[in-house]
Amino acid sequence: METFTFRAAGEVTFGVGSIQQVGLKVKRHGGNKILLVVDQGFAKSGPLEKITDALKKEKISFVLFDAVEPEPQGETAEQCGFLAKNEGCDFVLGVGGGSAMDTAKAAAILATNGGRVRDYQGLDKVPRPGLPKGMVPTTAGTGSEVTFTAVFINTEEKKKAGINSVHLFPEMSVLDPELTLSLPPAVTAFTGMDALAHAIESYTSLSANPLSEMVSLEAIRRIGKSLRQAVATGSDLGARSEMLLGSLLAGIGLANAGVTAVHSLSYPLGGRFRVPHGVGNGLLLPAVMKYNVLSRPERFARIAGALGEKIEGLSVKEAAVQSVEAVKRLAHDIQVPERLSDLGIPESAFPWMAEEAMKVVRPLENNPRPVSLEEAIGIYQKVF
Ligand SMILES: [Fe+2]
Repeated sequence: METFTFRAAGEVTFGVGSIQQVGLKVKRHGGNKILLVVDQGFAKSGPLEKITDALKKEKISFVLFDAVEPEPQGETAEQCGFLAKNEGCDFVLGVGGGSAMDTAKAAAILATNGGRVRDYQGLDKVPRPGLPKGMVPTTAGTGSEVTFTAVFINTEEKKKAGINSVHLFPEMSVLDPELTLSLPPAVTAFTGMDALAHAIESYTSLSANPLSEMVSLEAIRRIGKSLRQAVATGSDLGARSEMLLGSLLAGIGLANAGVTAVHSLSYPLGGRFRVPHGVGNGLLLPAVMKYNVLSRPERFARIAGALGEKIEGLSVKEAAVQSVEAVKRLAHDIQVPERLSDLGIPESAFPWMAEEAMKVVRPLENNPRPVSLEEAIGIYQKVF
C-alpha cells in the first residue's frame, strides 16, 4: 500500500440542538471577545438569536459583521480582518454557507498576518497561524467547516481563486441540523449538489487515499438517500440531518483528496457570470462524470451502488454508466439547471471559459482522465 497522509480539522460537534453548546465551545478554544461573521440571508431570516444567546450565556462579547454577500469578494474578508484586529478580537466565528465561513477563515488569518486576500491566494502562502476560528454551517453544502480552503472573487480580474493553507483548518465546528430547516428548496438543491460533487469528485480523485475513500463513499450514500426529501420537505429534520452529515463527510473527503474537473470547469461560471457555486457544479457534474466514467469504472460502479441503483447482474462498465444516469435523474428531480443556455451563458464564451478552467490546475491534476482545452470546450458544448 502506498504512503498516505490524512488530515482533519479540529473538534467537530454534530447533532440536533448542539448549537446551544456553541458558547461553551468558543470559550474552550480561547474566545472571550469574538468577531461574529454571519451571511446576509441567515442574518435576515435565520435563528441568529440561538447563537447570540449561547454566546451571552458564556459572557462572550461579540462584534457582529452580517454583510457577507454570496460568492464573496476579497475586500469583504479584508474588512472583517481589519475589524477583528481593531476591536481586539481573540476568536472568529463564521455562521452561514460557504461564503460566510470562507470570509471568517480568511479574516482570522488576515487579522494576524496583515496584507490582502490576493497575497495569500494559492497554496501554502500564509506564513503564520491566524486567530482561532470556529464554524457553524447553515447549509449542507460546502463542507468549509472542515476544509483548509477559502475562495474569493477578485473583482478587478473577475476571477475566483482560493487561499489554501493548513492555517485555514477551523479549530472547531458546531453542526446543528435545525439551523438548516429554513433553507429554501432551491438553495437546498444547489448546495446539496455541491456537496454531492465534493463526495463524487474526491472519491474518484487520483489523490484519494483509503481513509478519504471511506468518508467520500459514505457521503455519496447519505446525500443520495436524503437530498430529494430535503428539497421536497424542508421541515424533515431526519433528511436535513443526513444532508448535513453527508456534506461534512464530503468536506473531509475533499480536504484530503481534493476535487476534480467539475470544480475547475465551474470556476469561470462563478467568476464572470456570477453563477452560484452549487448551480455550476450541479450542472457540470453529470457531464464530467460521463467524460470520466470509463477511466475508473470500478469506482463509478460503486458510486452507482451507493446511490441505490440496482447493479446486480450488470457488468462493471454497465454499473459505472448507471452512476451518471443516477446523478442526472437526481439533478433533474430537484430542478438544478441542466443547460448553460438556461443561465444566459453564450456559446461564444466557451473558449475563454475553457482557458480559465485550465488555470484551475490542481483539480485537473486530480481528474482521473486528462482534460485538454478542446475537451473542456467539448464538455461545455454538451451542456449548452
Ligand atoms: Fe464546491
